[in-house]
Amino acid sequence: MKTKILLFLLIVAHPLMAQRLNDVKTITDKLSIEDKVLLLVGAGMDLSVISENKAAVGTTENKVPGAAGTSYAIPGLEIPEIVFADGPAGVRINPFRKSSPDKTFYATAFPVATMLASSFNIELEQKIGSAFGNECKEYGVDILLAPALNIHRNPLGGRNFEYYSEDPVIAGKMAAAFTNGVQSQGVGVSIKHFAGNNQETNRTSVNTIVSERALREIYLKGFEIAIKESNPWTVMSSYNKINDVYTSERNDLLTTILRDEWGFKGFVMTDWFGGRDAVQQVKAGNDLLMPGTKEQQQAIISAIKDGSLSMKDVDRNVARILNIYLKTPSYLNYIPSGNPDLELHKKIAFEAASEGVVLLKNNKQTLPLKNQNDVIALFGIGSYNTIAGGTGSGDVNKAYTISIAEGLEKIGFKLDTDVANAFQTYIIDQKSKQKPKKMFFLPDEVINEMDWSDAQLKAIAKKSSVGIFTISRTSGEFFDRKIDPDFNLKSSEIQFIKKLNNAFHKLNKPVIVLLNIGGVIETATWKDLPDAILLVWQPGQEGGLAIANIISGKVNPSGKLPMTFPVKYTDVYASKNFPGTVLDTTKSTNLFAGVASEVVYEEDIFVGYRYFDTYKITPSFPFGFGLSYTKFAFTGFKVEQLTDGSLKINCSVTNSGKTDGKEVVQVYVSAPGGKLKKPDKELKAFAKTKLLRAGEKQDFEINLSAYQLSSFDSEISAWITEKGKYKISVGSSIADLPLFGTINKPTTEIILKTNKALVPTRKINVLK
Ligand code: BGC
Repeated sequence: MKTKILLFLLIVAHPLMAQRLNDVKTITDKLSIEDKVLLLVGAGMDLSVISENKAAVGTTENKVPGAAGTSYAIPGLEIPEIVFADGPAGVRINPFRKSSPDKTFYATAFPVATMLASSFNIELEQKIGSAFGNECKEYGVDILLAPALNIHRNPLGGRNFEYYSEDPVIAGKMAAAFTNGVQSQGVGVSIKHFAGNNQETNRTSVNTIVSERALREIYLKGFEIAIKESNPWTVMSSYNKINDVYTSERNDLLTTILRDEWGFKGFVMTDWFGGRDAVQQVKAGNDLLMPGTKEQQQAIISAIKDGSLSMKDVDRNVARILNIYLKTPSYLNYIPSGNPDLELHKKIAFEAASEGVVLLKNNKQTLPLKNQNDVIALFGIGSYNTIAGGTGSGDVNKAYTISIAEGLEKIGFKLDTDVANAFQTYIIDQKSKQKPKKMFFLPDEVINEMDWSDAQLKAIAKKSSVGIFTISRTSGEFFDRKIDPDFNLKSSEIQFIKKLNNAFHKLNKPVIVLLNIGGVIETATWKDLPDAILLVWQPGQEGGLAIANIISGKVNPSGKLPMTFPVKYTDVYASKNFPGTVLDTTKSTNLFAGVASEVVYEEDIFVGYRYFDTYKITPSFPFGFGLSYTKFAFTGFKVEQLTDGSLKINCSVTNSGKTDGKEVVQVYVSAPGGKLKKPDKELKAFAKTKLLRAGEKQDFEINLSAYQLSSFDSEISAWITEKGKYKISVGSSIADLPLFGTINKPTTEIILKTNKALVPTRKINVLK
């Protein structure tokens, strides 16, 4: 109590605070029209990073070098510049500042969001969020441009690594946890990209044509969960159009749905240079235009002058922006220390990587490698040059990345030195031949794998105990991935696995494949070859150490797939229309402006496992799948329907094996078909066990509201639960659900009425 009073006195008595205006109305009344426009349009960006044009240079470089943008300061009213920085894998800022030449400002590189989602661990995600928040605050960032929660609609999505999942419940729950963590530190987030930004090809001009139901149930759902469960300070609208109109210019998206229906209280900013019509953006409730241009300022001023834009709309947006700015560290005169708790964050990054690794195959308990004296023949560029994360705004300027090789050596494994030396020399040589990137945020050049002859491999197999081959991939903004040879392995990669098998299996020694990737790849044609496959994703700066600890068995893998791994690319329904059709073939594709194009989401709600499961397409690895070094038993199932239509589900998980480990409880619902066709199963909730000792049991009670059980009926614009049997299944993946039961709903109920919004302007030929 005493400390509270002291804190209160300190705050109230702070001389700077005393001069501060702290109510939005008083500030707004003092602002000139020009000031107001400065608040609606960001302070610009040094375009030299993307072109010769240096005209619009923001103030970012003065305050936090390398941040994505800043707002204008209004010095007369003591409104400082507010700083915005990316992104989902770490705070993306420049580690060097001219103003502090003796200090560095490295941010922690956490695993990519897809890997964080693979942990299925909400508490961990919140802890990671707090670490991000601390780094933002102590490095001078007010608003973090993360989390990113677009849906993995297609495995080729170039930024899928920045996004969580093909499932909106995972995406929404993770984003909410992350947001709660970040904002607990007194800085804000921007949940992005709202909405339907599921590809990079022509991302700034593509018209996404999609049904109201698919929007509500799939593409908006994660955002809805995040808004309702975490109150993010800001939302970033996306680049694309939805049903003919840019998202940043859609009143029904940014006002009707986001604010009126979901109760969002913060402000909306555009993605960088997103949308076209500044005045329409202001009207639609896209409060802040980032990074901001002089043209936008002029357009808004002229519209105010000629009466086509009302001051009411301007003031409304200004108030929403100020409401948030008044909470920022910059406004509160917080002096960033430059010293976030990097030691703690390193441990959290390690934990995050440890929990996100997914064991896909483990024949005859190849893993863990029990004998620490094992000599590992470690192959693959990614073993030595481990890819910590993707490129573009999802990149992090990190102090270091522990490679898989370093991680293994750090915990005492011996590497075959001939192989290790050959790779290290080769990588240095290849890197020296690479041309510098034209623009820093473009994807990295890929180094081709080394060639090894059968004779060489035979000799290496003789003097080592196990062969490990790391396959790696990178991607990032502006480009989607290719089918060949990115989604599909290069023939040389498959060839190499075969050669390694020949050499090692002849001597009864195992072969392990590690997947250092940011998105789904083809696995069906080669997964039978190695003895074990470990999906290590792009695991952040501590990745190599986490992977080594899983290989040694010190950590038991507990990650699960937040998406489906198809047998072949064409098994994904969206492969039929991704990335859409170019409408204007006379123009060549411009990386930044894109060309007019459209993509029709014909698969409708049948995205990811909803398609595979319902249409009985066997995947290579199913959604939710991941092995462990121990076994778990699911028991004690009970489901009860309460009077409000919600469900109470009970179950227990016991570690029935010999090794300590964690398991994920996944709850799926099969709703009855009626007026609306339903997916065979949908994930509705999940929970992770604590570290269960061998023999230990944990009980779970999970509640599902009637709203969580409902589907969207666009004909009447309402969420409904249709009458009939609801099957509730619980288990460790969509393909392994040992517990189940049913409840009956005797009548069809309207659970929630919504507004008519985002209506397609033409008939969509959806999958039935
Ligand atoms: C990306 C955003 C990012 C912004 C600022 C854009 O190109 O789409 O995700 O936050 O740049 O760096």
